[in-house]
Amino acid sequence: MNESVKVTKQPVPEAQIFPVEAFISPDYVKVEGEKLWPKVWQQACRVEELQHVGDYVVYDILHDTVLITRSDENRISAFYNVCQHRGRRLADGCGRAMQFRCKYHAWAYNLTGENIRVLDEADWNGALSKDRVDIPKIQVDTWGGWVWINQDPDCVPLRQYLEPIATMLDPFEPEKMRYRWRLRCVFDCNWKTALEAFAEAYHVEGTHPQMLKYAEFYTWSTADGLHSHKGFDERKDHLRTLESKTYFRPGKGEDQRKAIAEMQEHILTTANASTTQTMVDAAKRLVDELPETATAAEVTAHWLKSAKADDAARGVIWPEIDRDHLSAAGNSCVVFPNLALAYGFTFMLCYRARPYGDDPNKCVFEGYVIERYPEGQEPKTEWIDAQPEDVPPLWPPVLMQDFANMGEVQKGMRSRGFRGCIPNPKQEETVTNLHRNLADIMGTGAPTPLKDAE
Ligand code: FES
Ligand SMILES: [Fe+2]
Repeated sequence: MNESVKVTKQPVPEAQIFPVEAFISPDYVKVEGEKLWPKVWQQACRVEELQHVGDYVVYDILHDTVLITRSDENRISAFYNVCQHRGRRLADGCGRAMQFRCKYHAWAYNLTGENIRVLDEADWNGALSKDRVDIPKIQVDTWGGWVWINQDPDCVPLRQYLEPIATMLDPFEPEKMRYRWRLRCVFDCNWKTALEAFAEAYHVEGTHPQMLKYAEFYTWSTADGLHSHKGFDERKDHLRTLESKTYFRPGKGEDQRKAIAEMQEHILTTANASTTQTMVDAAKRLVDELPETATAAEVTAHWLKSAKADDAARGVIWPEIDRDHLSAAGNSCVVFPNLALAYGFTFMLCYRARPYGDDPNKCVFEGYVIERYPEGQEPKTEWIDAQPEDVPPLWPPVLMQDFANMGEVQKGMRSRGFRGCIPNPKQEETVTNLHRNLADIMGTGAPTPLKDAE
């Protein structure tokens, strides 16, 4: 195990408070546009979206628009999605093209953003240098099966930026996972309000009370420099297994065979994430394969072993992850600034939140699941715009419960009755750490000890 991945038993940090400015101030959004977004590595898309030469994806962040292309078999390129003539955006969404021809005056660019056509170029009398007509490039790299971009030419390398999270997640082999589903929408809240709803499990009793029937959701959480992660903390002795710190943990009830099966089925039907059909099917067989007296540890071990064998039989090989590493990695992390990832052996539930224009009270929110499939058997997916108000909603019911908090939190924070955020020091360090790092970059709104607050 890499030493930089922290063990789970950290001292609980001192309680902190931080102001709401980061969520509600229009000035803060403007400064984010100067100090934050152009300086950080951002997860722009999956490598699987750029399989063939010419495949492209447009990634918009605030007022910047980025074109990411598979420019040749072995290369992904990124450059601004802006025609250098008079500024028209060149492309939208995603697709495949061998060149980008501007729809305004028909200038054209190749897959690395070099200009390949200026209409009536002689009219400029030689004043157009290549430099002037080529599109400025953007830093691009891949890790975990994702394409990441950074607008800062002097940025640190991606791997360095992502540590220790990259080392923590490498054994899960996210690069071998493929999209299972992907949805996006616009919320009436700041991007941080949305992201933070998926950065902790302290909200389960208030937001998802039905889930308490199945399991305990008490967690530890820890800062990892820019990033953070968390896992389940077993308060009850009978729940103590190494896997219980991850998603793979005992359910509530004396008969663990039934408890795990019920919990797994409930998770799949209500979240459509955080487990797989293989895991659910293996859990349902527990009652036939084990005696009622089997302990939580025995049931969990048997369940994971048979799910692993079932997957292997269909060509999905589970990664071998050291048990201590698994325990230390917990079940989810926040990658600074705007990603929340929840992981298991063969799946990951991912959330990405971004600003929506200059409005501090709105954001673009994307949720998606990636999963390991037998070679070539991944489903065909695309981004679907799905507002929670759609009838029927496309979002899974558990996420809809989370969504119900978004606008209400945003409104509450704008009231003068709110005196600042006081996250749970043990369970919501993921939230506090985000604001600690934001304050560093933005130069404002740092978390300070609650005991010193007026
Ligand atoms: S703005 Fe693109 S060719 Fe004129
Ligand atoms: Fe939730």
